[in-house]
Amino acid sequence: MCKNMGFSLPLTYILPVILINQVRRNHRDRWDCGGNRLGIGGYVFKCPRCGYETEPSPINFTCPRCGSLMEAVLAELPRDVRFRYRRRLGVWSYVQLLPRPRVRVTLNEGGTPLIKVGKGLYGKFEGLNPTGSFKDRGMAVGVSLAKSMGVHSVVVASTGNTAASASAYGARAGLRPIVLLPNGKVARGKLIQSIVHGASIMGVEGYFDDALTEALEMFKSGKAYSLNSINVWRLEGQKSIAYEIYEEVKVPDNVIVPVGNAGNIYAIWKGFWELMQAGLIDKLPRMIGVQAEGAAPLYETWRRGVDSLIEVNAPRTIASAIRIGKPVNWLKAIKAVKTTHGLIVTVSDGDIMRARDRLARRGVFVEPASASTYAAYLKLLREGVVDSGELTILVLTGHGLKDPDSVKG
Ligand code: F0G
Repeated sequence: MCKNMGFSLPLTYILPVILINQVRRNHRDRWDCGGNRLGIGGYVFKCPRCGYETEPSPINFTCPRCGSLMEAVLAELPRDVRFRYRRRLGVWSYVQLLPRPRVRVTLNEGGTPLIKVGKGLYGKFEGLNPTGSFKDRGMAVGVSLAKSMGVHSVVVASTGNTAASASAYGARAGLRPIVLLPNGKVARGKLIQSIVHGASIMGVEGYFDDALTEALEMFKSGKAYSLNSINVWRLEGQKSIAYEIYEEVKVPDNVIVPVGNAGNIYAIWKGFWELMQAGLIDKLPRMIGVQAEGAAPLYETWRRGVDSLIEVNAPRTIASAIRIGKPVNWLKAIKAVKTTHGLIVTVSDGDIMRARDRLARRGVFVEPASASTYAAYLKLLREGVVDSGELTILVLTGHGLKDPDSVKG
């Protein structure tokens, strides 16, 4: 359990910290995980490491045999998949390929534009989602499941955006959002979002990874339902990024994604992979993950080709969204990269900030983590790994207004 209950959030925030006092009851007894309410019957859980297969579950996401995080695989893809994003439905536009919970929550997420940034280069501007990041796509699905199960509280650890999104979608669904944030390491705009949506905020000493450990304890003890990316149903919502890219340009050559906890790069890969299984495309884009030099556990793991995660204990980068040393979805992310002959690349903080400013001078204001994709593109272009004759998509994951303090006045 969290010991510091929010008291240690830095005074500089001078903002109210709400103590958690209503998570004492164990909700698990009251969660109704019955099949029809959740509409997850079309899925099977498969272990990416040992291949074990089992029934899908809304609460058990780890392989009983080897402990890895399971993949939620659609057992059968519908023959007549129809793709057309509709603003009114949000990610539920793609319900044929999603769980079908009894309650559907939406804030009209998704439908973000592809903005031309250069020759052969487009940014998928996820900062234009309701709370300003791609997390909203996943929360629409995760919170819908939580609501359909009869959960009362949802919990996330976060570098800021997941918290903002869980707070908004939790509030929308009438659930109590609980967010655990690493003290002093969350951008101001994101913290304010959690406050304004009425979340219970707890400060945790250390890094995101420490906050995640505590949030998962809370989940395991049944106090609240986890919406972190261990939750495969949240990632199902995020795969809609791939569907939307497909609607506009079919299959790009490269998709460049910032990597933190490593859920999103996998989710986007999964979206394209399903399109291929459905016979709509005949190749996958090369998935390129980006990490900051000071917070690059996935890069090191991928580069050395080892089969256990090389953790970073004290991750450092100005891109606070991806300041993560122990990404839980590392195995799935490596799978996404390997099966598409992709790569993981690192960029320096200086390069990230220059890329952020360059994008802003073209009218696109993104937060530092998102700008890492452009920094990576420029680096790979110089190295001849990507070519301006190819079609490359940068996933611009969060809006620049989230992190005003990263802009020098
Ligand atoms: N970009 C932004 C703006 C993010 O907020 C995050 C993750 C990522 C990229 C990386 O995505 O974790 O799926 O690899 N933010 C999480 C959070 C960790 O708590 O908001 P990932």
